[in-house]
Amino acid sequence: MSEGARRYQLVVIPGDGIGPEIVEAALAVLEVVATLEGFAIEVERHEAGAGQYLRSGTNLLPETLDACRAADGVLKGPVGLPGVRLPDGAEAGLLGGVLRGGLDAYANVRPVKRWPGMAAPTRFQPGEVDYVIVRENTEGLYASRGRGVANRWAASDVLFMTRPGVERVCRYAFELAMPRGGAPSAGARRVTCVDKSNVLRSFGFFRAIFEEVAAGYPEVEADALYADAAAQALVMDPGRFDVLVMENFLGDILSDLGGGAVGGIGVCPSGNIGDAHAYFEPIHGSAPTLAGADRANPLGQILAAAMLLDHLGEPAAARRIERAVWSALTSGAVEIGADGCPLGGTSAAARAVVARLVDGASS
Ligand code: IPM
Ligand code: MN
Repeated sequence: MSEGARRYQLVVIPGDGIGPEIVEAALAVLEVVATLEGFAIEVERHEAGAGQYLRSGTNLLPETLDACRAADGVLKGPVGLPGVRLPDGAEAGLLGGVLRGGLDAYANVRPVKRWPGMAAPTRFQPGEVDYVIVRENTEGLYASRGRGVANRWAASDVLFMTRPGVERVCRYAFELAMPRGGAPSAGARRVTCVDKSNVLRSFGFFRAIFEEVAAGYPEVEADALYADAAAQALVMDPGRFDVLVMENFLGDILSDLGGGAVGGIGVCPSGNIGDAHAYFEPIHGSAPTLAGADRANPLGQILAAAMLLDHLGEPAAARRIERAVWSALTSGAVEIGADGCPLGGTSAAARAVVARLVDGASS
C-alpha cells in the first residue's frame, strides 16, 4: 500500500448484548486515530451471532465469512445470548468455532497487562505484569465442539491435536517473543509451555513439539509449567511471564484467570490470527444484562482495535490508542468501578480516550 494512500477495508461484526455499543465506541476511536495517522478505514457491518441465529437460523451467513476473508481485517464484538441455544444445549450465537475454523485463525493472542487506575486483587503495579497468552485456537478439546457424544448415562468429548497444528502455534509464540522486551521481572525473552503432560498423552505430544520448535529459537528461553502450577504462578508471580503457549481449553480458562488477576477481563483484548486472515475482539462476553444501558466497559474492544491496527501494519496508531487508554486511566478520566463498568458510562469513556488520542504525540 503506497504511503499517503493507506486505506483499509474492515468488516465489523457488532455482535449481541453490549456488542453494538462497545463496537461503536471502538470505531469512534479508530476513525480519529486514522485521521491523525493519515490513513482511511472503510467499514462494512455484518450481523452475526445470537440475533442473527434467531432471524435466519444460522449465526454466521456464508457471505459474512466470505467478507471476512476478503477484508483487510475484522473487528468483532462479543456474541451470544444465554437463552439462545442449539438443540444440544450449546449456545447458538457463539462464533468461535465457525470463525476461528473458517478463517483458520489458529493463534488466539491474548495480552494481559496491569493497567493503571484499576482496582485489582494483586500487589503488582502497572508495568510489572505484561505477558501474552497464545491460545491454540483451532484444535484441542474444543475441536470436539458439536461432535461429542452424550446420552443420559455417559458423555465424551475428545481432546484432539495434530503435529502441524501444535507446531504452527508454538512457532507463532516464539516469533511473538522475539521483538518483545522479555518478562518484566527478568527481562528475559521467554516462552512458557503450559500443559498437563504429567497426566495426558495429548499434552505430552504438545510439550515434545514445543521443545522441538524451541530448539530453533536459541535467543528465547523455553520454559514449561503444568497448568495447575501455571494458574498459581499467574496470580502469585505474573511478572515472570513473557509469552505463554497452550492448548485451546487451557488458554480459554487461564486467559480469564490472568485477566481477573490484573483487574478484570473488561480491559483484555484478543486477536484470532492465522496466516491469511485475522479478527480482533475483547475476550469477555456480551453481558446482556448491561445491554443498551451505556454502562459497559469499552476498553477491551478499543484495545482490540489497537491490535487490529498492529495487524494492518499501523503500529504508530496502535501505540497511540494504548497510550490514550493508559493516560485516561492514570488521570482518572476513565475510572472503572467495582462492577467493572466505567463510572461515567460507555460513551463518556470512549470520548475520554478520543480526547487523549489528540494529545498523544505520534511515535
Ligand atoms: C472466548 C470465549 C469463547 C471461547 C466462547 C464464548 C465460545 O469464551 O473467546 O474465550 O471459549 O472460545
Ligand atoms: Mn473465554
